[in-house]
Amino acid sequence: MDRDPDRLPIQRGPEPQPIKRHNTARDYVHRVHESLTTRVSKLICGIFLSLLLLVGIITFILWLSLRPHRPRFHIHEFSVPGLSQENGFENARISFNASARNSNQNIGLRYDSMNGSVYYRDQKIGSTPLIPEPFYQEPKSTRDIIGAFSGATLTVNSQRWKEFMNDRARGTVVFRLEFASTIRFRVSSWESKRHRMYANCDVDVGPDGLILPISKNRKCPVYFS
Ligand SMILES: *[C@@H]1O[C@H](CO)[C@@H](O)[C@H](O)[C@H]1NC(C)=O
Ligand SMILES: *[C@@H]1O[C@H](CO)[C@@H](O)[C@H](O)[C@H]1NC(C)=O
Repeated sequence: MDRDPDRLPIQRGPEPQPIKRHNTARDYVHRVHESLTTRVSKLICGIFLSLLLLVGIITFILWLSLRPHRPRFHIHEFSVPGLSQENGFENARISFNASARNSNQNIGLRYDSMNGSVYYRDQKIGSTPLIPEPFYQEPKSTRDIIGAFSGATLTVNSQRWKEFMNDRARGTVVFRLEFASTIRFRVSSWESKRHRMYANCDVDVGPDGLILPISKNRKCPVYFS
């Protein structure tokens, strides 16, 4: 602190500023003009941001209601009737009952034909066309897919059957049922491009040749390639 007694405390207050005075009116106009410009640009900015937000919200709502869900596949029945017989491979047969659901609210599904294949330890042992012609599936609808492999569509020799029998003796024979198709999503008259689709159902079969309760009505993962 400066404690010099000769010094007067600094005078604060309005001091005449003759040089600046003649500028005041212009300054004022300038300031008003400037604040008006910032206000207008702030307003435009605000309107623009609000519009952007609104468009974002509308897009989000549309996306939520139109967002395509993949079809949902479930396996209900699966049976290998001859599984308890030593020479069952001679007229082996695998039959199943599954379903495909379009769970979309507003999106229809256009399927091309659908093929089914059955795998055992990642080896394809059977393949057959399930739905030979293209079909359209309405929103919120389910279609049963029932089919069978036998004779020419199922290749099981005595060696493979022996493997089934060994698994059966341990309590479970595991198969995989695959559905393959190409689908297009459809919203009124617009259609998406074709997507190659696969649904894979792991099926545990018990010693009686029937699907085990843990696999019954199980959801089958669906993927696109
Ligand atoms: C297939 O399963 C569905 C659902 O469990 C059932 O409604 C339908 O009757 C079954 N169809 C056959 C042929 O077993
Ligand atoms: C179904 O199988 C047939 C014969 O192997 C094949 O030509 C066709 O492309 C397959 N379709 C689908 C959708 O996988």
